[in-house]
Amino acid sequence: MRRKEAPFENTTGPDAGKTSRDARRTERTINYLRISVTDLCNYRCIYCMPSGRVRRLPHSEILSFEEIATVVRAAVPLGINKLRLTGGEPLVRKGVPKLVEMLARVPGIEEIYLTTNGSLLEKLALPLKRSGLTRINISLDSLRPDRYREITRGGDLEKLWRGIAAAEKAGFSPIKLNVVMIKGINDDEIEEIAALTFDRSYEIRFIEYMPLGPCDVSAQFVHVPAEEIKRRLAKLGALMPLPKWNSSGPAERFQLQGARGTLGFISAMSHNFCATCNRIRLTADGRLLSCLFSGQTVEVKSLLRSSAPPSRLKEAIQLAISLKPAARASTCRNFMNTIGG
Ligand code: 5AD
Ligand code: SF4
Repeated sequence: MRRKEAPFENTTGPDAGKTSRDARRTERTINYLRISVTDLCNYRCIYCMPSGRVRRLPHSEILSFEEIATVVRAAVPLGINKLRLTGGEPLVRKGVPKLVEMLARVPGIEEIYLTTNGSLLEKLALPLKRSGLTRINISLDSLRPDRYREITRGGDLEKLWRGIAAAEKAGFSPIKLNVVMIKGINDDEIEEIAALTFDRSYEIRFIEYMPLGPCDVSAQFVHVPAEEIKRRLAKLGALMPLPKWNSSGPAERFQLQGARGTLGFISAMSHNFCATCNRIRLTADGRLLSCLFSGQTVEVKSLLRSSAPPSRLKEAIQLAISLKPAARASTCRNFMNTIGG
């Protein structure tokens, strides 16, 4: 029997039952939709994915580009004007420049960003720019080839630098480099990584590791608090605060005196910014997630594939928006590649 009610799934996770209370607490503009275009990745970062084979979603379970565009068109009247394409690794899905082009044509969409591991950027940076991609974030967790290979379980740092160079040449500016800092894994590189900004106009964003994977994985790693990173950077010179841009999201921004680039700190662990979070997520298999830490999802794929009127899709998106919690739910959930960072 086809369900008639709004397609809300209050999962069996520890937050089941909190829905209506959390919904009432939500009074903010949600204008940012993160879209995971695939849960697959050509890397297996130690903090993001299991080392072995991952269950591959059947092709039929993945939203088509047209279905993604339908969700976006329905989300615009509800306030969404910025999109970010994520994965897994979004660029392992064929035709992402075509998707960018389709989304850039949706009236009301002002910005389209992409988060990538950079491995496929050398060829794709220019087509992406021409399709209308506004900005790029690239992961760079180490400057040492061996360590980079270990963290990503096979990644090639040279290839990454070629991808970054291609993005610069294509005209992306500023390029944001995401560094997930983990104690004992890469925190001895804090100064060296930040010092890149003296010569290059990157925005380097130090991200506190979030224990989002299953407990046996997430418990292995400990984040490095942003305040500790800032203290260590004092050795490099004065750290001058910068005003927030509206595109900087939860990042606090600074610049080292005399530097061309900037530094950002995303301290999801040491500072709880849930109350001002402005984003919802669409998973590759067509579920809306109101929060990274929440197990609550709103299924939209079945609506897209049924003869339901467009108003039902809008209601589902509205529901996901209303479910945004005002405070952090518990951790230990799916691997990050399934929810798109
Ligand atoms: N904690 C913080 N950041 C993470 N990312 C992936 N997993 C985690 C985690 N557990 C980041 C990656 C990349 C983006 C996809 O999300 O480094 O920048
Ligand atoms: Fe792939 Fe990015 Fe996850 Fe690394 S962090 S495994 S590159 S999705």
